[in-house]
Amino acid sequence: MVDAEKIVLSLVDFYGLKLDRNHIKNVIDEVRKLNLSEEASYTVAKNLLDIGESYFFRDSPTWQAIDRILSSFKSVKMLSLGCSEGEEVYTFSIVAKKWTEPYMLGIDACEERINIARVGMYDKWKLRKVKESDINIYFNKVGNRYAVKDLYKENAHFFAENITNFESKDRFDFIFVRRVLIYLRREILSEVIRKIHRLLSDDGYVVLGRGEIYEEMLEVFEPVKVMDSIFWRKKSPKAKIDYEDEINFFENYIIKTSKDYVNMVKQLINGRMYEEALIWIENAYDFGVESKEIVNYHITALLNLNRDDEARKVLKKALLLNPNDQFLNSIAKVIL
Ligand SMILES: C[S@@+](CC[C@H](N)C(=O)[O-])C[C@H]1O[C@@H](n2cnc3c(N)ncnc32)[C@H](O)[C@@H]1O
Repeated sequence: MVDAEKIVLSLVDFYGLKLDRNHIKNVIDEVRKLNLSEEASYTVAKNLLDIGESYFFRDSPTWQAIDRILSSFKSVKMLSLGCSEGEEVYTFSIVAKKWTEPYMLGIDACEERINIARVGMYDKWKLRKVKESDINIYFNKVGNRYAVKDLYKENAHFFAENITNFESKDRFDFIFVRRVLIYLRREILSEVIRKIHRLLSDDGYVVLGRGEIYEEMLEVFEPVKVMDSIFWRKKSPKAKIDYEDEINFFENYIIKTSKDYVNMVKQLINGRMYEEALIWIENAYDFGVESKEIVNYHITALLNLNRDDEARKVLKKALLLNPNDQFLNSIAKVIL
């Protein structure tokens, strides 16, 4: 029998993850219960600890803003920290190729994901935010899967590397670090933010996931709003920054928008418009709103549409994070 606890704790340590003790315990229990080979246990544990996958054109408003910014670039270097299976690197390539010849580097601590990124072949589900009419512009269909066209793979490089070990002499114009910092412990977070500052060109942009905010960023970066998206730029040494104003700006921006999503979904669920609610729920996740309320509405909508298998998956994940939640436990009794 594999030592589930050792496997999970070594991963938590290796990735520098900051996770709720209950969550870690649940992952250990789950891995132990499955009783798989050591290699398979590592894979399952990584998936359960990472929570989340990636897909093309995730956070669509961010890509519209990047498209606008890139229109004035003659050349561009992009770095993706925690690039998962390459979706965000290739999305950047697709957007940037309209304007210039981009160079992209993706790193992720998970070797299996980097191998998939290098191949660049995906299920249709990963393309769910790509317009149907654009799919054959960017991808070749191979059986029932989709391969990124060679044009968009040019100058895209991938390495299996932990962010804490990564160093480069290059300076990057865009550094993506979306939905990665949330998992890092505080002391590692500050170190990584300083590293991102060193790696960013003086006029560069840091891209976080929609809705992500870290007070530590304010020490060396300042937020700028482009269209409907927030980016972070190096703080100019002369500028006098009012931290309180910046934090208020962010809190208002995030709180207002996340409440909008929750209210919208609530109204659609009350009006029994479950398909429409699912679209808004996905938008809410994209924006970084993963509140208990949204997850509960997600399960409610799926059950009402008789999509029980998907509801079970969402419920299992939600129970990992909130094992004592009453609503989740009462649903679990009926459908698990
Ligand atoms: C939730 S995914 C986010 C993917 C993508 N950036 C996005 O927003 O769609 C987090 C990724 O970060 C990677 N990751 C987590 N901690 C890391 C670390 N310390 N070093 C490198 N990669 C890490 C995980 O392996 C995973 O692929």
